Amino acid sequence: MVKLSPSILSANFANLKEDIEKVEKAGVDMLHIDVMDGQFVPNISIGPVVLKSVSKITNLVLDVHLMIEEPDRYIKEFVDAGAHIITVHMEACTHIHRTIQLIKSYGVKAGVSLNPGTPLNELEYILDHVDMVLLMSVNPGFGGQKFIPIVKDKIIKLKKMIGDKGLNIDIEVDGGIKVDNVKEVVEAGANVIVAGSAIFGAHNIEEAVMDFRKNI
Ligand code: DX5
Ligand code: ZN
Repeated sequence: MVKLSPSILSANFANLKEDIEKVEKAGVDMLHIDVMDGQFVPNISIGPVVLKSVSKITNLVLDVHLMIEEPDRYIKEFVDAGAHIITVHMEACTHIHRTIQLIKSYGVKAGVSLNPGTPLNELEYILDHVDMVLLMSVNPGFGGQKFIPIVKDKIIKLKKMIGDKGLNIDIEVDGGIKVDNVKEVVEAGANVIVAGSAIFGAHNIEEAVMDFRKNI
């Protein structure tokens, strides 16, 4: 089953509860929480304080995407704030193996993310240890950017890599996914779809979720 994980980055932060209730009612599976530190990416978003409040008002799986330098320093805080899945960027980790073990030591799922320009072979010695790989289909930092087409090829190759190793790992794709290109992304092999502006930026959030569902 393909899971939908709307990114609250494009939600109305003055009305976050209402926006989250809408996607939850419309039947999404997860909530994607984009954490940006102004260092790893050129933007600042939200942190554990907001996550903690969000975790109190929803039963959705909280899918935390850390776009931050030195993630090890904050992992426990995000676990305590209610994260169910924590994904770190390969490019931000000097000791990715250690970081993944640290996340798992708290009993939450661990994901690793690759920027569009980072090759898949970086995953070779870590794939066995992660629950999810998050492929960025835009350069991280902002919602509302355009999907980078070559990432489709990357999804296909990653799916094969995972299959060849006989592993069962989620493939999440994040950035520029809309109702009209989601099908191609799923056909390439993604099973967790992030969508920010296309869902929370839509005129009618519930309708946008239903349109996504129809196409996946
Ligand atoms: C980008 C974030 C994405 C972003 C997706 O840095 O990681 O999750 O919010 O937004 P859209 O779907 O608008 O590209
Ligand atoms: Zn994200």
